[in-house]
Amino acid sequence: MNKAKKLYLETFGCQMNVSDSEKIVTLMKGIGYQQTADPVEADLVLLNTCSIRATAEQRVYGHLGKFKSMKKQKPGLIIGVGGCVAQQEGERLLKKAPFVNLVFGTHNLHLLQKMVSGAEQGKQSVATDFLDDEKRFDLFPHAESEGGVSRFVTVMQGCDNFCAYCIVPHVRGREISRSADKVVEEVAALAAAGVTEVTLLGQNVNSYGFKEPGAPDFADLLRLVAQVEGIERLRFTTSHPKDISPRLIACFAEIGKLAPHIHLPAQSGSDAVLKGMNRGYTRAQYLEKVRALRDACPGIQFTGDMIVGFPGEDEAAFEQTMELIEEVQYADLFSFIYSARPGTKAAEFPDEVKRAEKQARLERLQAAQKKITLARNESFVGGVQQVLVEGPSSTGDALFGRTGGNRATVMDGDPALAGRLVEVRITEGLQTLLKGEILDV
Ligand code: 5AD
Ligand code: SF4
Repeated sequence: MNKAKKLYLETFGCQMNVSDSEKIVTLMKGIGYQQTADPVEADLVLLNTCSIRATAEQRVYGHLGKFKSMKKQKPGLIIGVGGCVAQQEGERLLKKAPFVNLVFGTHNLHLLQKMVSGAEQGKQSVATDFLDDEKRFDLFPHAESEGGVSRFVTVMQGCDNFCAYCIVPHVRGREISRSADKVVEEVAALAAAGVTEVTLLGQNVNSYGFKEPGAPDFADLLRLVAQVEGIERLRFTTSHPKDISPRLIACFAEIGKLAPHIHLPAQSGSDAVLKGMNRGYTRAQYLEKVRALRDACPGIQFTGDMIVGFPGEDEAAFEQTMELIEEVQYADLFSFIYSARPGTKAAEFPDEVKRAEKQARLERLQAAQKKITLARNESFVGGVQQVLVEGPSSTGDALFGRTGGNRATVMDGDPALAGRLVEVRITEGLQTLLKGEILDV
């Protein structure tokens, strides 16, 4: 009997990469590779990479060094690099790391089976052409049959916004939306495999369908997906504040299945910095969207992203970011030190904020947010939340799930409840999770 070949896959970065990695696993299964969590037994190592910040990119080269030594012991080991660093570096990556067998960009998953088979025959290959055609979403099988409780479904890819700091439009290409029929078809197949929750995924889901006049927009798409039987809960990410329409806001009031959570990155609380970032909204406009969302859906939870130390951010501008997080009361905030990325507009700006100052601002912001998060988590105590049970908790002796507002929750209960929405009375609000008791089953 042929021993199954083994794939070791590491994923860096955002949910789009996580979702692409699911597809990679399915594709590699198709040519005989089983996934392993142990790199030592791998015949094929694939790194799905991120270049959003310089630190993320450096980590990839660090990892490659590790696999280079492994390859010395095991010369047949195939090493492939995909994702955003691969897209950006292309051939250069092979020059810097000649032991790499294949480099596949963000639009080239459909070529991966061929590239790996070629590498088995000793061929090195690079594929980084953009494929600006909606067809690219469906050029290969999806992992619908894998089931699970909660899954991502890609609805659009790419970004046309060109925020001054951001490399995404350079490595993911222009915005392309997938047809609503294909999205609904995939969601229905997932529901048939037992999936209860889907997260519609795109770099900027709010501009879904913008390029095709008369086609469904994102609000229409949400309504279509909500009709799929078996899907109990819907989420989406990521949203650009400037593109949140009144029609989308109304969805939070009208679609019962739509979870009361929105990831709405502000990036800064200062108008001058937002302008430099080319974000297309002011602080007041951002806050207006937050207010309208809270009006439509009183319990809605906000999460966000913030960048500190963008060129031109002085102490007063940073203070405005500090004030914004107090005003919005984010349930959770992801905050980053600005990192100049090659080819972006902001990389040409003088980077005036000193490294130590950036670090100090990040620490102040994170300390303030930590308090907000804890206070919010404590505020849930005594109330009842709808929790989707995902499975056993990490300690194995309880169940893990998420509230509609996307708060991690642990509670006692039967593991057979995985995939079910249950009512949970919250008994404790900790820094990173809620604890509760299931009310009825
Ligand atoms: N430097 C720091 N943070 C960045 N992000 C995007 N580009 C950069 C950059 N050059 C952050 C933004 C974005 C999140 C995914 O990463 O906050 O929303
Ligand atoms: Fe990057 Fe801005 Fe596009 Fe988001 S909207 S991916 S931050 S360019």
